[in-house]
Amino acid sequence: MKFFLDTANVDEIRRIAKLGLVDGVTTNPSLVAKEGRDFKEVVQEICSFVSGPVSAEVIGTKAEDMLREAEDIATWAPNVVIKLPLTEDGLYATHALKQKGVKTNVTLVFSAAQGLMAAKAGATYISPFVGRLDDIGGDGMKLVSDLRDILFNYDYETEIIVASIRSIRHLEEAAVAGAHIATIPGSLLPALWKHPLTDIGIEMFLADWNKSRK
Ligand code: E4P
Repeated sequence: MKFFLDTANVDEIRRIAKLGLVDGVTTNPSLVAKEGRDFKEVVQEICSFVSGPVSAEVIGTKAEDMLREAEDIATWAPNVVIKLPLTEDGLYATHALKQKGVKTNVTLVFSAAQGLMAAKAGATYISPFVGRLDDIGGDGMKLVSDLRDILFNYDYETEIIVASIRSIRHLEEAAVAGAHIATIPGSLLPALWKHPLTDIGIEMFLADWNKSRK
């Protein structure tokens, strides 16, 4: 399974990249706004040390605006991926970018039908938002496994990026469901490797070792 970091915080990405856990990065307008930095500058800095795909989202809601933005963003770095919302205009732009060989990440996917539309339009990646779906009483992980089956059934090359991950369970279930990628908030990552029994085990081993040395 590939891990993307779901953040626009460069320090956070650098720290986690040193552990070999960063295969790519996803950003969105909220994450970039939180950093208070220029959009292009942040994306280019991330792309300077992350060799995998780095998603940068368009702001326009009309296909022509999305395509104008995409044309510019695509020149920022060779590994940049254009992130587009799942709307009719977004699908149009996804299809047009596919013809030009530009990689896309279709975001804000909340149903299997939406994911299928994006795959058919030529999306490189689709991002089902499991946390936001669970928040309103839906079943985010059922959506992920349905999308996995659909892409497999029809041999689509589109990859699933499980997004809006809120818990360790989300990540574990995404892996069990066979999702290609999980995009994980930097703040959640330490919880993925920390376990109280690991800490207790280290303490016990050290105590026994020190006792035997007396
Ligand atoms: C990633 O592509 C999404 O933008 C992100 O995972 C959304 O997460 P949130 O629902 O926690 O804002």
